[in-house]
Amino acid sequence: MSIADSGAQPQSPDVASAAARRGALAMEAISISKDFRLPRGQILHAVRQVSFGLYRGAVVALVGESGSGKSTVARLLAGQEALTSGEIMLDGAPMDVSSHKAFRRYKSEVQLVFQDPFSSLNPVHTVSYHLERPLRLHQASGPGRAGRPGKEEIAALLQQVRLTPADQFLPKYPYELSGGQRQRVSFARALAARPSVLLADEPVSMLDVSIRLEMLGLLDELRRDFQLALLYITHDIASARYFADEILVMYAGEIVERGPAEELTQHPAHPYTQLLVASAPDPDNLGSTLRAGGQRDARPESAGLAATGCPFSPRCPLADDHCRREDPALLRVSPTRAAACWHLDIAAPEVLAGSQSRPDHGGVGT
Ligand SMILES: Nc1ncnc2c1ncn2[C@@H]1O[C@H](COP(=O)(O)OP(=O)(O)O)[C@@H](O)[C@H]1O
Ligand code: SF4
Ligand SMILES: [Mg+2]
Repeated sequence: MSIADSGAQPQSPDVASAAARRGALAMEAISISKDFRLPRGQILHAVRQVSFGLYRGAVVALVGESGSGKSTVARLLAGQEALTSGEIMLDGAPMDVSSHKAFRRYKSEVQLVFQDPFSSLNPVHTVSYHLERPLRLHQASGPGRAGRPGKEEIAALLQQVRLTPADQFLPKYPYELSGGQRQRVSFARALAARPSVLLADEPVSMLDVSIRLEMLGLLDELRRDFQLALLYITHDIASARYFADEILVMYAGEIVERGPAEELTQHPAHPYTQLLVASAPDPDNLGSTLRAGGQRDARPESAGLAATGCPFSPRCPLADDHCRREDPALLRVSPTRAAACWHLDIAAPEVLAGSQSRPDHGGVGT
């Protein structure tokens, strides 16, 4: 069924995903793009030819500044936004959200958790109500277990997200809960459908800094217990290092670097990744930015608007005429890493030296 079973690597044919060793391929984005037409007729390339895989039991982090296209990727994967081009595969089959029924089936496999648990929970409904509906829908699609979910099943969900004693939380309304408790309810609601893929869009960035680490710890437990293929979206590269198997760095709609989380953050190759790592308060202190409240979350200046050359060139200290003229492709720099930059030989000579073969970057050294 799954492509991963045959050992194939979907994202770019010659780069292995660090997430693939955890489990089978669940979802695959194949060169997905999304354009938005702006009021004055301009086209915004919010997501450009992005490819990656999500694997059962593994965390892939999508990291980038505000406006880089992360949430658009999440909405595309969740079937909430139509692709401009590319393809999304779930369990080896093309995504189907063509009918109400197909969309519901898709949603039972692919769940999205948002940044703001206040706006995603309905203020007029209780915790119990929020969980009962997705449980009922899930049971209706399961073998012979139709009917109203019992209180025990709802309580079990609350237990899984550590909202105990469950009895105490079932009758509560969102406004009666803390931010962390509300986000736990969001997690529980997402899990009610027993999804294989969880897309978590900045799941801790609106929470109090004191509980972020604990909430990531909970997400990690849920990943393991349910063998979730988890996409963790964040602007905080330190939390991605702490939490993810593989990191994808996004800038102005493009993946500019990808690789195993630890290696990529220890030896970033792309000048933009280097900037992200350098501006994290203390990259060696795991979770430091979680506690300190996160790093600068600035908007890329030319974010995705039609411009030639490398999108990072307006901010890059190494930019030259070549960079401003041609956008570098994302190419392999080692068996598990890829970067999109013409001048990796200057930006990260040690990464190139450590790779087994010289990359295929036509522009390197020119
Ligand atoms: N529906 C939309 N219409 C027009 N532009 C949009 C729409 N949704 C997102 N964008 C733009 O696409 C870019 C990427 O947005 P988003 O995916 O939300 O980035 P991120 O989640 O990384 O902050 C931004 O410039 C944003 O303004
Ligand atoms: S291609 Fe040029 S502008 Fe872009 S990141 Fe590399 S050196 Fe900087
Ligand atoms: Mg976003």
